[in-house]
Amino acid sequence: MMPARPRVPTNPASMLAACIGAALGAGCSGWQSALDPKGPRADAVAKLHWSLVTVATVVYVIVISALIFALWRGYRRPVPDQGHFHQETPEQADTMKRGVIVAVALTVIVMLAFVVTSVSVGSAVARVPGNKPLRIDVVGHQWWWEVKYPDPDTHNNFETANEIHVPVGRPVLIKMTSQDVIHSFWAPNISGKKDLIPGHETVTWFRADSAGVYRGQCAEFCGHEHAKMAFFIVAEPRLEFESWMQKQRGEAPEPPDSLTQAGQKVFLSGPCVMCHTISGTPAAATVGPNLTHLASRRTIAAGTLPNNTGNLAGWILDPQSIKPGVKMPPTQLDPSSLRALLAYLESLK
Ligand code: CUA
Repeated sequence: MMPARPRVPTNPASMLAACIGAALGAGCSGWQSALDPKGPRADAVAKLHWSLVTVATVVYVIVISALIFALWRGYRRPVPDQGHFHQETPEQADTMKRGVIVAVALTVIVMLAFVVTSVSVGSAVARVPGNKPLRIDVVGHQWWWEVKYPDPDTHNNFETANEIHVPVGRPVLIKMTSQDVIHSFWAPNISGKKDLIPGHETVTWFRADSAGVYRGQCAEFCGHEHAKMAFFIVAEPRLEFESWMQKQRGEAPEPPDSLTQAGQKVFLSGPCVMCHTISGTPAAATVGPNLTHLASRRTIAAGTLPNNTGNLAGWILDPQSIKPGVKMPPTQLDPSSLRALLAYLESLK
């Protein structure tokens, strides 16, 4: 599976942010920017952002111009004789007083307008639209995202990790909680932040209006590997989404050949079963991500690495060198067992 293709930003502000993002190494896969909104929630936040920036810029220009004018006027005033300081006439003093009052009043009005717009945008984006949202449950873990798709018919329930597929144009309702510490769900192109709190359920929603792969990131410091707790929102046309969902609902495919059969044996007889689930096999632990359709995912280690054979091998043998502090221990495997295990994991489409 190829890593997510970076998306090309569409406006100058996004391009600038793209350069900064790429320089910081954030642009490895998928594009992440609050200034390139792809849904109504992010759009409202971006519009609010630009309106505040515009007003603040105008105010800044006025204040700096007034300062320069005052300096210039003071500079041109003749130097007073000794003991003779410049005295304003009563009219000049009155004008100055009026000027101060107008400036204070304008400042108060601008600040109040900021408060009113930001509160009203906040409450507008918080309202979940009523028309049959898709329900998804997200559980935060140090340092990965458990993603569940509950269905009225529980046989259809399935689970994945670090990759949230959604249909374009349909509202998505996300119920969230955390297994350990506070995390925060943030996919800047799609929606603002919402915290995941242990022992408490929080709710957020979003709608992706154009197809694409949008990177998200934990936005609340949650320990050692907070920076490597990313996820992807994959927004696809309805039919594509439904065929993805149909595949995810199924059990893992049977190993198709002797190599993958040997790999399954390595998986089931090794430490992997202590933490992971592969449905249709005896592996049913829930400590780490569900691997039933691992090969269908774009990345491993919560958005840290593209999902390919080399990265998977490195991750299995020594996850601590890639993500120090991660719960997964290193696994000792001889080369033939590793090859078989990799073949098996890559067959989990
Ligand atoms: Cu999870 Cu930061």
